Amino acid sequence: MQEFKDRVAVITGAASGIGLSLAERCINEGMKVVLADIEESVLISIEREMTSQGARVLAIPTDVSQPGDVEALARYTIDNWGAVHLLFNNAGVITIGSAWESTINDWKWVIGVNLWGVIHGIHTFVPIMLEQDTDCHIINTASIAGLVSPSPGTAIYHVTKHAVVALSEALYHGLLQSSSKIQVSVLCPGFVKTQLMEAGRNRAEELHNESSDGLGKPAAQADQVVAQSLARAISNGILPRQVADAVFDSIRENKFYILVNIGPWQHALRTRVEDILQERNPTIPRLDL
Ligand SMILES: NC(=O)c1ccc[n+]([C@@H]2O[C@H](COP(=O)([O-])OP(=O)(O)OC[C@H]3O[C@@H](n4cnc5c(N)ncnc54)[C@H](O)[C@@H]3O)[C@@H](O)[C@H]2O)c1
Repeated sequence: MQEFKDRVAVITGAASGIGLSLAERCINEGMKVVLADIEESVLISIEREMTSQGARVLAIPTDVSQPGDVEALARYTIDNWGAVHLLFNNAGVITIGSAWESTINDWKWVIGVNLWGVIHGIHTFVPIMLEQDTDCHIINTASIAGLVSPSPGTAIYHVTKHAVVALSEALYHGLLQSSSKIQVSVLCPGFVKTQLMEAGRNRAEELHNESSDGLGKPAAQADQVVAQSLARAISNGILPRQVADAVFDSIRENKFYILVNIGPWQHALRTRVEDILQERNPTIPRLDL
């Protein structure tokens, strides 16, 4: 897509971090923007603030893990603005824990938001875009965690992000074969300075663990170390605005893989591919931070 002015963007996870920066960038491009997020009070105050500055913005509280919420988001978008041109399936959360110690609630929560959220976005919006038959672009936020071998302590997050990369590739191939006007990208950033490590603030009541450390799981000592080092890396990450800039450059260039700030991960990415090709056992990613 080259023209953005007066077109419509829908952004999930728009009340913070990367989603909020994408929203600001869409507004600067002259777009009408629908902000969707589970954190209702913050979402509404952002809508108020942006509207007072003259932006064309609508906010709709949405839990992307719920298909009905995403269908309501699409209806609201079409009823108000008649079309959708950019869809950012961006909402995401994280838990810390191994594949066997993470609770079933951990799995349900993170898969619900990170994977089902993207599935719901695709299932709901692609038929609308196909019917519309105008230039559109879908950007799914995965992570560099969706490309490298999982680091210890972040099993579920890696599982969901690998799935989002595969889902995006499948969507890309399918839409190309159907000669549609919908383009697809998968966003895979390294560390970005956001509130990701406070994701537990938006965890559904029924998916909480009995004893919770704010990330929503019992706090084993090894997990605390992982959480602390991740929090440090994220707080030293690039600004979300830089991600939004890279995303818009990539949409204009119709680039599928959007890799941002992955310098420290390049070795891990190459090593994973080499491990597979040479049938070596997986190397634990070593970050050069
Ligand atoms: N921060 C990083 O270093 C980093 C790196 C790679 C990828 N990502 C990905 O970027 C995306 C955005 O995360 P961020 O880093 O900006 O974090 P963030 O916590 O600042 O923003 C995430 C937003 O998603 C919302 N959200 C959470 N659960 C939701 C749900 N069920 N329905 C709707 N909205 C929900 C939150 O309320 C929040 O506003 C995520 O998919 C994350 O996995 C982040």
